[in-house]
Amino acid sequence: MSEHAAQVLLDANRTIAEISPLLFGGFIEHMGRCVYEGIYDPESPLSDEQGLRTDVLDALRAQRYTVMRYPGGNFVSGYNWLDGVGPKDQRPRRKELAWQSLETNQFGTNEFMAFCRAIDTEPMLAVNMGTGTIQAAADLVEYCNAPVGTYWADLRAQHGFAEPHNVRYWCVGNEMDGPWQIGHLDAVEYGKKALEAAKMMRWADPTIETVLCGSSNDRMPTYPEWDRTALEIAWEHVDYHSMHYYAGNPQDDTAGYLASAILFERFVETLEGTLRYVKAKRRSKHDVYLSWDEWQVWYKGDPLQGDWTVAPHLAEEVYNLEDALVVAQWLNVFLRKSHVLKIACVAQVVNVISWLQTRRDGLLKQPSYYVFELVSNLARGKALDVHAAAPAVETDEYGPAPMLDVAASFDEATGQGAVFIVNRSQDAAVTADCIWQNDASVQIAEAWQLAGTDPKAVNTWDAPNNLIARRLDAPVMNNGTATLRLPPLSFTVLKTSAGMQNS
Ligand code: AHR
Repeated sequence: MSEHAAQVLLDANRTIAEISPLLFGGFIEHMGRCVYEGIYDPESPLSDEQGLRTDVLDALRAQRYTVMRYPGGNFVSGYNWLDGVGPKDQRPRRKELAWQSLETNQFGTNEFMAFCRAIDTEPMLAVNMGTGTIQAAADLVEYCNAPVGTYWADLRAQHGFAEPHNVRYWCVGNEMDGPWQIGHLDAVEYGKKALEAAKMMRWADPTIETVLCGSSNDRMPTYPEWDRTALEIAWEHVDYHSMHYYAGNPQDDTAGYLASAILFERFVETLEGTLRYVKAKRRSKHDVYLSWDEWQVWYKGDPLQGDWTVAPHLAEEVYNLEDALVVAQWLNVFLRKSHVLKIACVAQVVNVISWLQTRRDGLLKQPSYYVFELVSNLARGKALDVHAAAPAVETDEYGPAPMLDVAASFDEATGQGAVFIVNRSQDAAVTADCIWQNDASVQIAEAWQLAGTDPKAVNTWDAPNNLIARRLDAPVMNNGTATLRLPPLSFTVLKTSAGMQNS
C-alpha cells in the first residue's frame, strides 16, 4: 500500500449556500416489492395495525428522510389515483403495464400519507402525464389539499380524512422524455401539457410547488435540448426541474466508477447553465432550481418485468463497498451544488434498487444505508467551499481524479459542523491534515469510518455487519488542525462542535 499526504482546508466564512433539508429525500414506487412487502405488509409479524412494517419504519426514521416522492416512477404514467382511495375491498385489481405486474391498490394516496406521518417526512406526489389528464391532476391536488366543502375534498373526508393532507411538492409527470414511458411525449408536447397541468394544479392550490420532468439521464439523445425546450415553455409555472440518474460499474472499471462524482457534477453544471439560459431568454424574475428526484446505483441486471404477479422481486440490487463510496460522493456533490440543487430523492427506499432489503421476518442493511444515514443526520446549515489538495488517481474515463472527494457543512445556529471525506484510491492511504482556517478552537466531537479492502465486499443475511460505519476515536485537534489517516476505499465522517466562529 502506498502512502500520500493531503490537506483539507475549511473555513466557515467560505460558504456555498444554505443546505436545503429536502436534499435527503427518498422515493417509493409501486414497483416490485417496494410498497408491498417493503413498506406495507399486513401478513408480516413485524407490521403494525395499519399494515406498515415497523422495522422498516424504524430504519427509515434513522435515516431521517425529509421528503418522500410517490407513487412513481414509470408506474405513475398509467395510474388512475382514484383506484387507490376509498374502501379497500372496492379497489380494483389491475394489470400494471409499466412493470408488467398485478396491482391490488391496497396501498394508495391516503395510506401513503399515513406512512409519511409515521416517519415524519414531507410527501411529494407525482401526477400522471402519460394516460392522465390535466383535469385529473388538478382533482388530485384538490382531493389532497382543499378544506372540506367541495367535491374532491368531501370525497377525501368521506374516505376518512377530514383534514387536508397539505401536500406541497408535486412532480408534473415522470421521465416523459423516455420512449419507455407510458404516453411518452416530445419536449414541446410535454412542455405544453406540463404548463397547463401545473397552471390548473396551482389554481387548485396556489401554495404548491411544482417539478418539471427533465431528461431521464445525460445519455438521452434529446439531452439537454429536452430540458431547454420544456423549461422555455413551462418556466413561469414550475419551481424545480428534475434530474434522474442511475450509476453503475457494468464494465468493472472500479477506478473510473470511483470517480463518478466528476460525472455527477458535470450533469448538474449543464442543467444549471440551462436554467440560467432560459431565465435570461425569458427575461424572467422567477427562479427554477434542480430536483434530483431519482438517484441511486443500479446496474446489476435483476428482472424488470413482474410476469403479472403481485410484488415480484424486481431490481433488488446487492450493493458492495464501491457502490457505497459512489453514494458518499453523490451526497458530497449535493452539498457542493447546494446553491442550485434543492431536492434529491434516492430511488428507492426499500427492496427495489435499495440499500434496505426485507424478508417477511427480517431486514438487511446494505453498506450504503450507513453512508446516507450519516450524511442525512449531520449535514446542516451551510455547505462549505472546501479546498482539498490531494494527489490524483488515474482513470481511463476521466483522466486524473483527486484521490479525496470532500464536502463539509457548518451550522451557525448550533455551532455544529461536519466533514465528509471519500478516499477513492484502491491502494493508497492518505494522511490528511484537516485545517480549520478561521477557528483554532474547533473540536471533533465524533468520527465514523466505513472502509474495507475489497471493493466488491457486501453485507449478507449471515454477515449483516461486514460493512458498517464504525465509530473511530475522535482525532486529536491541535490548534485547529487534525491529522487523519484515511485508508484506501474509505468514507470518513467528522462531527465538529462549537468553536468554529464566523469572524
Ligand atoms: O426507479 C425505477 C424507475 O427508474 C422509475 O420508475 C423510472 O422513473 C426510472 O426509469
